[in-house]
Amino acid sequence: MNNIIKVANLSKRYASGFEALKGIDLTIRKGEIFALLGPNGAGKTTLISTICGIVRPSEGTVTVGGHDIAADYRAARAMIGLVPQELTTDSFESVRATVTFSRGLFGKPPDPGLIEQILRDLSLWDKKDAKIMTLSGGMKRRVMIAKALSHEPDVLFLDEPTAGVDVELRRDMWQLVGRLRERGATIILTTHYIEEAEEMADRVGVISKGQIILVEEKAALMAKLGKKQMTIELQNRIEAVPEALSPFNLGLADGGNALVYTYDSQAERTGITALLQALAEAGLRLKDLHTRQSSLEEIFVNLVSDR
Ligand SMILES: Nc1ncnc2c1ncn2[C@@H]1O[C@H](COP(=O)(O)OP(=O)(O)O)[C@@H](O)[C@H]1O
Ligand SMILES: [Mg+2]
Repeated sequence: MNNIIKVANLSKRYASGFEALKGIDLTIRKGEIFALLGPNGAGKTTLISTICGIVRPSEGTVTVGGHDIAADYRAARAMIGLVPQELTTDSFESVRATVTFSRGLFGKPPDPGLIEQILRDLSLWDKKDAKIMTLSGGMKRRVMIAKALSHEPDVLFLDEPTAGVDVELRRDMWQLVGRLRERGATIILTTHYIEEAEEMADRVGVISKGQIILVEEKAALMAKLGKKQMTIELQNRIEAVPEALSPFNLGLADGGNALVYTYDSQAERTGITALLQALAEAGLRLKDLHTRQSSLEEIFVNLVSDR
């Protein structure tokens, strides 16, 4: 089976009357890393929670490995590991006991060797006897991941895995995701950082206001949407962009002390070379240069205004 998750016509209206998901159709392929990208409030957590059977859909169906999440909840849920956005682990139990217990919850036989491996992979082995409530936020998050992996799920959901975590954990997380994928796991992560999707995902789905507005291979998406901006600080102020530079569609910034060039981040860099040449020919002297990747927020504005 190539599609491990099928979401069909999924809608969620909360008790407040708010419609957080509006007719979502989505399939996740076995073995892929899928990034669900969207701004805060787009419905990412609601969608993940619905697929995991925690939030009940108002309409539509979800199957995981062919098991309906409502009618066949236990079988579907056993295939899933979920690392929620919020830290919910705060106990008097030790790290190892908590992770071991988590595996038992899914009816899997004890496997101390596996638990050790998971704790080592997450740099938690030194903390195995520590009570969870004594750990830092970053360490608690590692415990949440260990719990989610304890029953060897086929599909791992990571809800905003690196929002607010330190650089070290972020790096560990990316490595872990890479190793899990090599073992054939399917991984779905939500993020509002385009860099994260860019780093890890095979495919990217963009969600906005409860609707999936596009699903694409990452490379294609970055090519389509990844714009970069180069700011050129000038040594001398100018009144207007010289006529000779008009093909570059430059913007004037900083009261005439800078020029802004927008270009496609995947495109070849000949545009920049030509621009620098043209600047020199126009007699403009540069003070400094910096580039910036467009943010998801800007990409969204573009996407929404395109529609
Ligand atoms: N339990 C709830 N009751 C009512 N509205 C909710 C509830 N949970 C989330 N929402 C609303 O649904 C929308 C989507 O939320 P969420 O799925 O958490 O978005 P995201 O994870 O993309 O930030 C938001 O507007 C949020 O306020
Ligand atoms: Mg969320």
